[in-house]
Amino acid sequence: MEKKTIRDIDLKNKKVIIRVDFNVPLDKELRITDDRRIREALPTIQYVLDKSAKKVILMSHLGRPNGRVVENLRLNPVAKRLQELLKEPVKKLDDCVSAEVSSQIDNSKERVLLLENLRFYPEEEKNDPEFAKKLASLADIFVFDAFGSAHRAHASTEGIARYLPSVSGFLLEKEITYLGKALEKPLKPFMLILGGAKVSDKIGVIENLLAKVDAILIGGGMAYTFLKAQGFKIGNSKLEADKVEAAKEILEKAKKARIKIVLPVDHLITQKIDTAANLKIVKDDIPDDWIAVDIGPESIKLFKDSLKNAKTIAWNGPLGICEIDAFAGGTKDVADFIANLKDAVTVIGGGDTAAAMLKFKLEDKLTHISTGGGASLEYMEGKVLPGIACLLDK
Ligand code: 3PG
Repeated sequence: MEKKTIRDIDLKNKKVIIRVDFNVPLDKELRITDDRRIREALPTIQYVLDKSAKKVILMSHLGRPNGRVVENLRLNPVAKRLQELLKEPVKKLDDCVSAEVSSQIDNSKERVLLLENLRFYPEEEKNDPEFAKKLASLADIFVFDAFGSAHRAHASTEGIARYLPSVSGFLLEKEITYLGKALEKPLKPFMLILGGAKVSDKIGVIENLLAKVDAILIGGGMAYTFLKAQGFKIGNSKLEADKVEAAKEILEKAKKARIKIVLPVDHLITQKIDTAANLKIVKDDIPDDWIAVDIGPESIKLFKDSLKNAKTIAWNGPLGICEIDAFAGGTKDVADFIANLKDAVTVIGGGDTAAAMLKFKLEDKLTHISTGGGASLEYMEGKVLPGIACLLDK
């Protein structure tokens, strides 16, 4: 069911509370190392301002403070960055629901305000109705634009929608358009690339998309449970022993449905993950005590070959241990290749995969890089996300 957006509601002179996902990575000096989630929220904020809303009240969580105040997780660095990007003064409040918050909003000369980290209150994650009501009492309209948190049924994502007219922002709309279009009615051939450490994280995605894809290319740590299921020796590579049977079943199902599962045929291996020393390439079996950390050159070739005619490519999970540059080659080569395919729709989900694409400077060459980590995975699993379900239907 399509959801109402900020285009479908009168914003003039209204106080509009927007749930954004400003859960951005910070370094030790509390500097934001990737501000994409803030940049991606700007079109919604700007539109609401342009439509003459009385106030724009932004709210987000940052990190996992577990219901108490953690000084390093205050949203001050986010407010500063937002103000620079928006080119409009942003007033940062030190709380989100105290008695003063409402009068601070009404009396502020700034039109844009950012509440303090919602997760300083345990009520947020418990989806406490009183807490949700207090947030709702600050505004006339609720806009949900935090796709990255859409899988969380929290007070600020789902609870609040019971007390205010609730519509989607442009980022949420964009995520649903691209992820939805790619996954529901994909242009064929439709290729799914999966990686990352764990098979268990991706079983739901495989089950949901098996009937739609033409092939699934598997790399990363999860490939080794599949290779084990096929009888290969995998040395000390990542293995989920309790998922070998599930991997066998997936391989069987895919075979019956004539869907190709493409696994690595060679591997970059090492004896110690924290060092780039002592690396070698092996084909097929991996010797005892060695660990696969990336797909090898023949696998890269095989993956590119399989992808060359694709019209839709969805990708979730890196093909090697991408945080270490020496093990990022497979992911980078395949990413560069799909970024240069002329007619393919390329949709990237998952926090690590998105971070890798940004590091490779491919942001402008891919159709869509989701701002969702867990949320994009659950969306790809075909789950109904509570932060979306609670919004008004069109
Ligand atoms: C994310 O980064 O995936 C979202 O902001 C959700 O964060 P959470 O996993 O702590 O709920």
